[in-house]
Parts: sequence; structure tokens; C-alpha cells
Amino acid sequence: MAESNEAINTTKKVIFSGIQPTGVFTLGNYLGAIKNWGPLQDEYNCIYSIVDEHALTVKRDPATFRKQTIECYALLLACGLDPEKSIVFIQSHNPNHAQLSWILSCCTQFGELTRMTQFKDKSQKHPDDVNAGLFTYPVLMAADILVYNADLVPIGEDQKQHLELARNIAVRFNQRYGDMFTVPDAYIPKTGARIKSLQDPTKKMSKSDDNPNACILILDDKDTIIRKFKRAVTDSDTEVRYAEGKDGINNLMTIYSCVTGKNMDEIESEFSGKGYGDFKLAVGEAVADSLEPVRTEYAKLIADKAYLKQCYTDGAQRAFRLSNKILTKASRKVGFVDYR
Ligand code: AMP
Ligand code: TRP
Repeated sequence: MAESNEAINTTKKVIFSGIQPTGVFTLGNYLGAIKNWGPLQDEYNCIYSIVDEHALTVKRDPATFRKQTIECYALLLACGLDPEKSIVFIQSHNPNHAQLSWILSCCTQFGELTRMTQFKDKSQKHPDDVNAGLFTYPVLMAADILVYNADLVPIGEDQKQHLELARNIAVRFNQRYGDMFTVPDAYIPKTGARIKSLQDPTKKMSKSDDNPNACILILDDKDTIIRKFKRAVTDSDTEVRYAEGKDGINNLMTIYSCVTGKNMDEIESEFSGKGYGDFKLAVGEAVADSLEPVRTEYAKLIADKAYLKQCYTDGAQRAFRLSNKILTKASRKVGFVDYR
């Protein structure tokens, strides 16, 4: 499979991104991250990973976890990732991430990790299981990126702090041991970097929300999507206008803009004189229509487990070979004994 992809094209920049296999992706994941990954595949050497090791920082039922990991892999392909053009693989299949993570953890300060807002949030949410993996999560994320010397990392805004830490770790390693790692840049979409909950538009849309109406899942059917948008929390005004204090409407406008490509002015004039009801219905329909091909493609892929296995096995092998060169170099730099 894809022998032509064996050697990475050295004239193109390298992109790495990851997503946790914690259930069907939300519209937030889709608009803030995955939707933008597909179009990058021609211009860059892209490496995309289902980060199951990161997901293990929260207790999971093993059978469900295994099933969800494969489903999420199929979803990535359904969202337009091409396993021939890009390296698409499951993180735990390439042990080089965890190995580099150990080396990098020795270049990371305890204080830096305690300042991570995601760590603070997650340890509050799961006070009975504040495990060491949850604490060192950002170091593994740095290793994911640095082990391929990635130039760019497409992410939503919530991951900016983690990326900043990855940059600091790279700079520190380079200063201590000599230039080695590329210092990666974040690649954050202009619109859609932070899609908000439909029920509380001051919070980000997240699959862990207790209220199922707060979040659109990308496999939701058309009726469900429209129903959730109809129930979306807005304000007591009636005008479809992007303005401070109108968090609900701003969020719906952002979503509509992402799926239709229209800007805020165009959306305001399209709905001038119309009420929120019409607008919500239009957003629901536009979102449902744009997700329809993803649902169709997913149904096909998930029925073909052998094909999926072939894709993630091939992806893992290519990821391993690529990262091995960089890990070997880093191991030499820190003074590990060479045995090859
Ligand atoms: P996660 O589901 O936490 O693994 O996130 C996967 C990717 O989706 C990351 O790049 C996040 O930044 C992005 N993401 C998650 N939630 C949102 C959201 N509500 N709006 C925009 N991007 C998001
Ligand atoms: N921490 C990211 C999230 O929750 C997922 C992730 C893990 C990631 N490793 C990565 C994203 C490397 C980009 C690059 O969304």
C-alpha cells in the first residue's frame, strides 16, 4: 500500500494533529479542527493521529474504548482524510511517542504543568482520579508533535496553551543539547476556533456536556440536528446581528458562516427582517446538509473493518519509521548509549 508515500516529501512542511477517541466528534471538533485537516493534505506532509494514550488519562471501559478508537478512526477518513496522501494512525501503535515523552518530561518543570488550565479543569471534574498521566498529558502531546519535527499544528483555541508548552520544551531541549527540534507553530482557524454550547453559549461545545441538546454530534441525523438548533439558547432581542452580549446568536452565526462560507455582513442581510426561528432552522438545515456526506461515508467505512485495519496498520508503520530517525537523534543528543 502507498509505497510512493514511503519517503516523506522534504520540500513540503510537516503538519501533525491529534484527536481523542472519546466518542463521536462534535460540531466543535469538526469546525474547529477536522474539517480544516483535509484541505491541507495536498500542500503539506500531514500526519494525523487518534490519540488513544491521551484518552486513557480518564478511566474507560476497555471494550468500549477499543470500539470507539476504531469508530473514530473511520470517522477521520469519513471527514476527508486520505490514508494514501497522509499518515493516519493510532497513537499507541507507535511507541516512539511515549519514549520521547519520557525524555521531554525531564526537560519540563513541575510548575509549568500545574499551570495548565486543562489539567486544573479535568482534575476538578474527576477529583477521585487525578492520575500522573493527566498531569503529564501535555508532555506526551509535545512528544507527538516533536517526534515528527512538525512545523504546524492545526488545533482549536482550547489547545493553544498546550502548544505553547510544546514550543517551550523544544526551545529548552535545543538550548541544552544543541539544535534538534523544529519549534512548531499553531494553526488556528479564523472562524470556528471555539464553537460554543447550544445551551450555554459562554461555554465551549463539548461531548462531555450533560445536556444532549448542548452539542451536535457529527453523526446526528437531520431531524435531531434541526431539533437541537431550534432549542438553542439565544436572547430576548429579535435581530440576527453579530454583537457583544449576543453570545447565542454570535455562536449560531459563526457556525452558519463556517458551513456556508458567508461572512457576518452577508448573514445579517440574508436574515434582516426575519426572526430567530427562521434563522435557527436555516442553520440547522445547512449543518445537516454539510454533514450528510460524512454520515454516508462513515456507514460504508465502518462496515469494512478489514480495510480500516489495513489503513491503520500501514499508517502505524509509516509513522514509526519516520519518527524513529528523530527519536534516535534525540537519544544520542541526551547521551543514551547507541546500540545500532
Ligand atoms: P478533543 O475532542 O478535546 O480531542 O479535541 C480535538 C480537536 O478539536 C482539538 O483541536 C480541539 O481544539 C478542537 N475542539 C474541541 N472542542 C472545540 C470547540 N468547541 N470549538 C472548536 N474546536 C474545538
Ligand atoms: N490534546 C489534544 C486535544 O485534547 C489532542 C492532542 C494530543 C493533540 N496530541 C496532540 C492535538 C498533538 C494536536 C497535536 O484536543
